[in-house]
Amino acid sequence: MSADREALLARLAGLERENRALQAKIRLLDEGRAKQERIADTHRRLLRCVNRDYEESLAVIERQHADALRLTAELTRYRNELQDLVAERSAALHQANERLRNLSLKILAAQETERRWLSMELHDGVLQSLAAVHIFLQTELQGLASRLPEQSFDKLRLAARTVGEVMRDMREVVASLRPPMLDDVGLEAALRALVKKCLLPCPAIRARISIEVGDTGLHEEQKIICYRILQEALSNAARHSRARNLCVEVSRDSGGLAVRVQDDGVGFDPAASRLEGVGIESMRERVRLLGGSFQLEAAPGRGVRLSAFLPCAVTPEES
Ligand SMILES: Nc1ncnc2c1ncn2[C@@H]1O[C@H](COP(=O)(O)OP(=O)(O)OP(=O)(O)O)[C@@H](O)[C@H]1O
Ligand SMILES: [Mg+2]
Repeated sequence: MSADREALLARLAGLERENRALQAKIRLLDEGRAKQERIADTHRRLLRCVNRDYEESLAVIERQHADALRLTAELTRYRNELQDLVAERSAALHQANERLRNLSLKILAAQETERRWLSMELHDGVLQSLAAVHIFLQTELQGLASRLPEQSFDKLRLAARTVGEVMRDMREVVASLRPPMLDDVGLEAALRALVKKCLLPCPAIRARISIEVGDTGLHEEQKIICYRILQEALSNAARHSRARNLCVEVSRDSGGLAVRVQDDGVGFDPAASRLEGVGIESMRERVRLLGGSFQLEAAPGRGVRLSAFLPCAVTPEES
């Protein structure tokens, strides 16, 4: 009986121990749960803060986005307005340029008309009078040889010779004022004659010539400018180049006339500021007036290559 009691007491003591251990565990668990609660609480607070910050940031971003959109719309409007303005100004500029070009072309045409008129006046007026004086002097001279003192006769003979020389110079002037053949035989033949005439005083130059332009469909300014450019280029080659070879090419396609003159002479430095003539500048200017292109490549000792393009499309306004 007492053994049973002993066993029971031991059992009871064991149970109490277990109970205490369990209670300790329960306490630990309670403490852990409380800790967890605190942590969860902190997390919730943090989350609320983060959320609030996030929402505030979102609102700021949305505001900034709306501002950016407004700004973009404004910029687009400004850009469009500017584009319209630029287009308007460009059109006005283009128109002004066109007017200026037409005006310059008309001045050029007027100049040529004036030159033609002057050449006719000189030819039909002054030259005819000089010719009459020349014939008179020569006729008179024949009869006066025996009747005049020798000194007077020599003076008269000198006067007749001088009149003859003046007439020759005058013919040159008349010819240079208006390309004489342009009206009569057309551009192609006039250009061929020009090349022949310009190269006559330079027998040392070997020339390769190709002129294929025809005569139909070219307007007056184009023909005259083409003639004048070739005239100046050949005159420069003859006067300055000391070339052995010269290549002259005038060709035509549906777009316009192309003039190329190249020599293998002494060349020159186009950038040198002391170029005194007006020939090159006047070629450049004439081509510009036609809306064409002009290039001159030159270097000392390396000859000169000139190319000009005269477009067909230019038709100066009538008014
Ligand atoms: N083919 C060439 N070879 C060598 N030098 C040249 C040639 N063409 C032009 N030059 C040089 O360029 C200069 C300017 O030429 P440009 O035709 O403008 O005037 P210019 O011939 O001297 O005078 P202008 O043509 O007014 O009668 C010439 O003086 C010459 O020194
Ligand atoms: Mg010249």
